[in-house]
Amino acid sequence: MDFLDPQLDAYVCNHSKAENAALQKLNRETYSKVLMPRMLSGHLQGRVLSMLTHMIRPDRILEIGTFTGYSALCLAEGLQPGGILHTIDINEELETMVRKYIAETGLEKSICYHIGDALQIIPTLNEMFDLVFIDADKTNYSNYYDLVFSKVKKGGFIIADNVLWSGKVLVNNVDTDDDTLAIIKFNDKVMKDDRVENVLFPIRDGLMVVRKK
Ligand SMILES: C[S@@+](CC[C@H](N)C(=O)[O-])C[C@H]1O[C@@H](n2cnc3c(N)ncnc32)[C@H](O)[C@@H]1O
Repeated sequence: MDFLDPQLDAYVCNHSKAENAALQKLNRETYSKVLMPRMLSGHLQGRVLSMLTHMIRPDRILEIGTFTGYSALCLAEGLQPGGILHTIDINEELETMVRKYIAETGLEKSICYHIGDALQIIPTLNEMFDLVFIDADKTNYSNYYDLVFSKVKKGGFIIADNVLWSGKVLVNNVDTDDDTLAIIKFNDKVMKDDRVENVLFPIRDGLMVVRKK
């Protein structure tokens, strides 16, 4: 995932706005208490997500893959007043931690946290989204894309995380694992989709930014 030279990476982080105190605390708590903490977006990607939502000014956001809530809090920063971010995660063990930080940041009215399988929950959401952030199980990326597409407003955005998959997308052979194959398939599917415009941003592990025409 670390594509940038460490010194250059430090320079980039030192020249991007710092995380607020709640995000710093959540980052630390995730690294000290939760398995696979590197799944958390982190400082730089969090600031990128915040900047993108400030540019889009969404009224409705859908996040697939809450984990400990870091990216949800960053994405919610750019919501319009009265806007709602729906976030879904299948792991109920993180609920207490997620709800604690939603409360600490005063976002109880803006963040609607769903626990369960996103494939089951998405069809029940009666919303049209300005922005969807896909960051859950990689083997379902294409399924999530298909499931949300009709729920994205014209001119709305889908952003998918980890689309470089630590560089493994370059190793396309029969022995490649399921996650890598799924990411390769997803990236190719987006490229072939003439209903959208897309750019792969090489930020952290790669963000595919898709605009529905
Ligand atoms: C990479 S983490 C999300 C990181 C988070 N977006 C962030 O940036 O801090 C992926 C999350 O997807 C969740 N997940 C995996 N399969 C899922 C499913 N079928 N439905 C909902 N969530 C799922 C996992 O429990 C995990 O917490």
